[in-house]
Amino acid sequence: MKVVLRIGGSVIASPPNSVLISKYVDLLKGLKAEGHEFVVVVGGGSIARDFIELARKVGLSEQNQDDLAILVSRLFAQLLAMRLGEFGTEFVPTSVPQVIQLLNEKKIIVMGGLRPGMTTDAVAAMVAEKVDADLLIKATDQEGIYTKNPDKHTDAEKIDQLSLDDIWDLLEEDKHKAGIHQILDPEAVRLLQRSKTKTIVVNGFKPDNIPLAIKGKRIGTLIE
Ligand code: UTP
Repeated sequence: MKVVLRIGGSVIASPPNSVLISKYVDLLKGLKAEGHEFVVVVGGGSIARDFIELARKVGLSEQNQDDLAILVSRLFAQLLAMRLGEFGTEFVPTSVPQVIQLLNEKKIIVMGGLRPGMTTDAVAAMVAEKVDADLLIKATDQEGIYTKNPDKHTDAEKIDQLSLDDIWDLLEEDKHKAGIHQILDPEAVRLLQRSKTKTIVVNGFKPDNIPLAIKGKRIGTLIE
């Protein structure tokens, strides 16, 4: 199966979690050995947001804030790629054409952000469309998508399955802001509506959810 795995910075990088990163690397190696192909997209987590805040405070533009956050996400991507050793590509692609080119190497591709004005959700959705992925998995800091933000509302209920159209009603922001954190970036929703990529949102703190999602087990939230 061709999978785009988007691992939230909130999961592996807030604060950086060496145990979890190593678990993901070992899991990816195992799934690759089983014949699955991966493009992994990681975010920059709290360190990226610290840079956004710092940039904002020194008076840098929203675009500069995004650019710095992208660099942080690429740093995490590079670390994962290094830890993957011969299983991973040597360099972190910084554009979609580079991703397409790297596919020939038949290795696990790890990347971070691409350009200002979006999040790695949109990057993952864009890559999924271009590589014609069978599945996009978003490994996030919640069990899936909820009726309301579960961090703020105790009566929020987890949704097992929903359509992309339903997601619009759940988004708190429909425009990009540097450092935005919500269930799915609005640009990603637009891209997924176009490509119709099957998407599953799971709890990324439990990496075993990744093989379960690939095997079609009903976990997290399925978006179709
Ligand atoms: P993400 O929101 O994708 O990172 O990018 P994350 O840490 O994985 O987020 P969680 O775990 O979902 O919370 C962080 C910020 O980096 C910039 C944006 O400012 C974004 O909010 N970014 C990232 C870009 O501008 N372009 C990109 O392609 C990726």
